[in-house]
Amino acid sequence: MKVLVTGGAGFIGSHVADALLAQGHEVVVFDDLSTGRRENVPAGATFVEGDLRSEADVDRVFAEHRPDWVSHQGAQTSVSKSTREPLLDAAINVMGTLHVLRASVRHEIQRLVFASTGGAIYGEVPEGERATTAWMPQPISPYACSKLAGEAYLGAFSSEFGLPTQILRYANVYGPRQDPHGEAGVVAIFSQRIHGGEALRINARKEAGDDGCVRDYVYVGDVVAANLRGLRGELDAPVVNVGTGVEATTKQIALGLARALGKEPEITFGDRREGDLERSLLEPGTGPDLVPLDEGLAQTAAWFAERSGR
Ligand SMILES: NC(=O)c1ccc[n+]([C@@H]2O[C@H](COP(=O)([O-])OP(=O)(O)OC[C@H]3O[C@@H](n4cnc5c(N)ncnc54)[C@H](O)[C@@H]3O)[C@@H](O)[C@H]2O)c1
Repeated sequence: MKVLVTGGAGFIGSHVADALLAQGHEVVVFDDLSTGRRENVPAGATFVEGDLRSEADVDRVFAEHRPDWVSHQGAQTSVSKSTREPLLDAAINVMGTLHVLRASVRHEIQRLVFASTGGAIYGEVPEGERATTAWMPQPISPYACSKLAGEAYLGAFSSEFGLPTQILRYANVYGPRQDPHGEAGVVAIFSQRIHGGEALRINARKEAGDDGCVRDYVYVGDVVAANLRGLRGELDAPVVNVGTGVEATTKQIALGLARALGKEPEITFGDRREGDLERSLLEPGTGPDLVPLDEGLAQTAAWFAERSGR
């Protein structure tokens, strides 16, 4: 198959591209390199630089490369940026997704997989519970709103034009190549800081000094596996959670990484960050052989160690 991966120069998209190539598919990456990096694009993929906000750019890549499948990973991914710049967030995540959907219909693609967010779309997940896809979404940030709008448009295009689509709601994804310079992606941030001999700050869940927020950390390899199954049409529901159902606090992540690296970083405690959900946990919709947290942290730490040694 020929597969168009939008956002394929980014963290998750580049792993999806790698896996597709390894399975013998042809891959075209479309990305504006705003947060992605050219070096993340696998050597075997064709790279097209373009902006999701431009319908002409999007249509051109479909017209020139005629993909069979589309993996739509490209997005404005920062929750805090969406709060500061909601119009930009919507331009990329809502209008950009519409451009991809319109081109997918026009060029008669066979299936489209959409990267949505289980980490943000459900809002607070009460103690003792896991969010299921039957829950009514409770988007709090503009980012969660724009992803939910993207999902709704997928539903409309699928019923209106018969476009086969698959929505994947990712939990907190971590692994090699995640950008450690943003304000999210705590595994990448902590890995980088441990290598730099810097302290790790745990932002409070409620009050400074607690173990931090609870999240569902899913290894990027498991997210890639869900994407491949989604593209092949093997998932049994149109909306699927991609998480582990296992909760971890920020402190557990700090200790797990320190253990994996055999280091004892200083740990400091910060206040609660405005807008942070206290607890997010998904009822997993894929599996069952998911990478355990300790193993995933060890693989991620090893990748950052190798990179910092370069
Ligand atoms: N990382 C997570 O924990 C997580 C969780 C839930 C959902 N997601 C979703 O998964 C997808 C991939 O996220 P990621 O973590 O790899 O982030 P990322 O920032 O590494 O990847 C996003 C890619 O999209 C590209 N992009 C951004 N704006 C663009 C534009 N206007 N035109 C073309 N390309 C553009 C970026 O350059 C980047 O390569 C996103 O849709 C994100 O919303 C990620």
